[in-house]
Amino acid sequence: MNRQIEVVAERDLRLEDRAVIAQWIRLLFGDAEDMYEWATPDWRVLVRADGQLVAHAAINQRTVSANGEPARVGGIGGVMAPEEFQGKGHAKAAMLRARDFLWETLNLEFGFLFCSARLVPYYQRLGWQRIDGPVSFAQGGSDVTWQQEAMVLPLTDRLWPGPPVDLNGPPW
Ligand SMILES: CC(C)(COP(=O)(O)OP(=O)(O)OC[C@H]1O[C@@H](n2cnc3c(N)ncnc32)[C@H](O)[C@@H]1OP(=O)(O)O)[C@@H](O)C(=O)NCCC(=O)NCCS
Repeated sequence: MNRQIEVVAERDLRLEDRAVIAQWIRLLFGDAEDMYEWATPDWRVLVRADGQLVAHAAINQRTVSANGEPARVGGIGGVMAPEEFQGKGHAKAAMLRARDFLWETLNLEFGFLFCSARLVPYYQRLGWQRIDGPVSFAQGGSDVTWQQEAMVLPLTDRLWPGPPVDLNGPPW
């Protein structure tokens, strides 16, 4: 199997890849997708096996506030591999490329993602750390508090400043 990974800017995402990703979101996230107004990604990590799209992660660059301090984060969202492509390390490969991109290309301080409690061990194995909330974000002119888990990936020596966290915009 020949695996290829690319990071593409949102404006350069090919129509056919966009359609596949939209289909996966419906399939894998279902109604949860409609719960919030999500930020438009800045970049996409696309993983292909023998030319076929098999995994995806989205990246949003944002300066959030944590314990009153600005923190430059790369928000990771839409981490997906459809069932037939799961368990092959494709999603892990997307996460590792995302981490390299956040550090080497964007020079950010932290990765930041949201997940359910069920997936905390998955991300911990990739070096991510659970953080304490509250984490709030913008939704239609007001602030909403995230009710599930949030995790960070330190990319420099800086320690995560701590709660409360304000995303200063919609979630990813
Ligand atoms: C979460 C998801 C992306 C993982 O994809 P995957 O293809 O199963 O995972 P990978 O093959 O990349 O797994 C990499 C490693 O994590 C392990 N792993 C997988 N799921 C795990 C879990 N829930 N807990 C702990 N470890 C897990 C694998 O065993 C593998 O271990 P290895 O490196 O020792 O071989 C996939 O299940 C998915 O798309 N789920 C639906 C959408 C979703 O919930 N996305 C996350 C939103 S936050």
